[in-house]
Amino acid sequence: MSTVDLAHPSPCAPARAVSPARGDDDFGVYVHWPFCLAKCPYCDFNSHVRHGGIDETRFLAAYLAELAHFAALAPGRRVSSVFFGGGTPSLMQPATVAAILEAIAQAWRLDAGAEITLEANPTSVEAGRFAGYRAAGVNRLSLGIQALDDASLKALGRQHSAEEALAALALAKRHFGRVSFDLIYAREGQTLRQWRDELTLALGNAADHLSLYQLTIEDGTPFAARHRAGTLRTPNRTEARALYALTQELCEAAGLPAYEVSNHARAGSESRHNLLYWRGRDYAGIGPGAHSRIPTDGAKRAIATAKMPEDWLGEVEASGHGIASDTILSAEEAADEYLLMALRLSEGIDLARLEAIGGRVPNEARIAALQHEGLVTQNGARLAATTEGRLVLDWLIAELAA
Ligand SMILES: C[S@@+](CC[C@H](N)C(=O)[O-])C[C@H]1O[C@@H](n2cnc3c(N)ncnc32)[C@H](O)[C@@H]1O
Ligand code: SF4
Repeated sequence: MSTVDLAHPSPCAPARAVSPARGDDDFGVYVHWPFCLAKCPYCDFNSHVRHGGIDETRFLAAYLAELAHFAALAPGRRVSSVFFGGGTPSLMQPATVAAILEAIAQAWRLDAGAEITLEANPTSVEAGRFAGYRAAGVNRLSLGIQALDDASLKALGRQHSAEEALAALALAKRHFGRVSFDLIYAREGQTLRQWRDELTLALGNAADHLSLYQLTIEDGTPFAARHRAGTLRTPNRTEARALYALTQELCEAAGLPAYEVSNHARAGSESRHNLLYWRGRDYAGIGPGAHSRIPTDGAKRAIATAKMPEDWLGEVEASGHGIASDTILSAEEAADEYLLMALRLSEGIDLARLEAIGGRVPNEARIAALQHEGLVTQNGARLAATTEGRLVLDWLIAELAA
């Protein structure tokens, strides 16, 4: 068995119902803002530093044009969530966010109660824009805090202190009804004791949601080079499992159990937008390197846009969209994707849905064997990975898909 990384975007806890599934027709819009103040040495997201600044007005015009293109590909949908992700969307002017939200409301039907999330970095300059984002219509903020001590923040190459992060969190809680923050654990030299103290502090300050990612060493990053050279030591598998187990224990005790591999929430406060991905629903992704899943003639269309911001901008200005790849998923691909995503959730997969998509339902003997090993639980048509199962999620998915 291969073990999965407990990191972003990966494992979690015993089966527990998340907020009731809303209609199958839920539709999300993701907006990718690909710019950052500095590139963190562990990060391989589609994020870029532009020291000379960018022409935000020109980019906004491109976002609006691409939005119109996607509205024509998926007309008439009811938008239940919007997510501004990055990169660092808190570098956007609130007026840019407001203009994009207005365009979304015009292009589709925006639910009155839609969840509208923006990812923010907790520097004081960015915190100064929180009121503007709230006024623009954002009602959920996701803060990238990463660590709660200055030495760790420095080692992670972050541009903020722990004090600034906690101040930004307090301000966010004043402005937004819903607030989440991210921490990265299993960092260099991090002991169980240190993580217990840090997570306890985090839980004491948490609002309704926490994303707790185990540090992943991503190829091509400065951290990967140091890891290869032996100058960056991360916890071994046994230590990482212990950190993961402690994370589950403390979060459950604090009333924020895992509903996904790395995501914890109070009941009813799960990220509705991310649930769309994990439940295999439809969404449009706008901006450089964004992905979409849009239905077409009973199948699913997988679309991705050009990753480099300036390439994307040029494409949109020339043809109204930055689409770089556009394929129709086969039934088998769509079923594999559903299995891969939904097994991350503590609610698990719906076997009837897996079959409807075109996947092979694992035979009873195989499920019984996995149950016997304590790796899955079954409740009617729902099959979920246990905490142990999530530790070997890649292997489990391969077993179920075989
Ligand atoms: C796309 S980033 C955007 C958030 C924002 N720019 C920030 O850095 O605060 C989303 C989250 O992914 C997590 N992340 C990024 N790279 C990671 C890595 N190599 N290992 C673990 N978590 C990572 C961080 O917690 C980060 O907040
Ligand atoms: S972690 Fe966030 S701030 Fe750092 S480079 Fe990645 S996207 Fe940018």
